[in-house]
Amino acid sequence: MTKTLFITGASTGIGAATAHAAAKAGWNVALFARSRDKLDALAAEIGDQALALPGDATSYDDQAQAMQKTVDHFGRLDAAFANAGRGLDTPGTEAGDPEEWRSLVDLNIMGLLYTAKAAIPHLKPHKGSIVLTGSAAGRRHLKGSIYGASKWFVHGYAGNLAEEMREWGGRCTVIAPGMVDTPFFSEAKPDKLKPEDVADAVMHALQADPRNTVLEIHLFPTN
Ligand SMILES: NC(=O)c1ccc[n+]([C@@H]2O[C@H](COP(=O)([O-])OP(=O)(O)OC[C@H]3O[C@@H](n4cnc5c(N)ncnc54)[C@H](OP(=O)(O)O)[C@@H]3O)[C@@H](O)[C@H]2O)c1
Repeated sequence: MTKTLFITGASTGIGAATAHAAAKAGWNVALFARSRDKLDALAAEIGDQALALPGDATSYDDQAQAMQKTVDHFGRLDAAFANAGRGLDTPGTEAGDPEEWRSLVDLNIMGLLYTAKAAIPHLKPHKGSIVLTGSAAGRRHLKGSIYGASKWFVHGYAGNLAEEMREWGGRCTVIAPGMVDTPFFSEAKPDKLKPEDVADAVMHALQADPRNTVLEIHLFPTN
């Protein structure tokens, strides 16, 4: 039985690398992000194992409809990767922009909750998994980081969701990367983690024996 993974933020960076890794491991992948052109190109590279589903993660309806299309197309959903996220142009509380905070909360917190809520009814029959992209910034205090605080939410929620999913044999993992060389940053970070490193961690959690819930993977560039 071919398993299916739904990925938010699949158009670039960690999400796109995870799509490649999962397809290589034999999974079908449903690719969700706003950039239709990038999703179509990625789906064409991967082939029949991929389905491009353009949508906005800050809309519960967009995510719920995309998951239903995933199940209609591939027949089932075994895992969801809530990975879409953004940073802030203006850091700190004193200098920060409340409207920018709202956009961040809508995506990094509400969008992630929507992924989990929309996925659970499909995952439950297969004792499926949810993986959340947290961050090293969600494990330690960084001066004025509201982005980091949104990832503290992800880490706190991940443990609580793991407890909720355990009741029906489901598993939840939070992945906490340090700096990764992705379009998240405007300049390249060639000596930091590659998105493929994070994809490996996601696949480790998803492919662990069902008796084993991998609660958290924290990975960091060696330098
Ligand atoms: N790079 C790092 O150092 C690092 C470290 C720790 C954690 N993270 C986290 O890793 C996750 C992925 O980031 P990345 O580094 O891979 O950066 P990225 O390449 O910028 O990826 C962000 C993804 O989120 C999607 N996205 C943004 N807004 C969206 C929306 N409203 N609806 C749907 N999709 C949306 C983007 O696609 P569209 O623009 O096409 O929608 C893109 O696919 C984020 O949660 C980030 O906070 C990154």
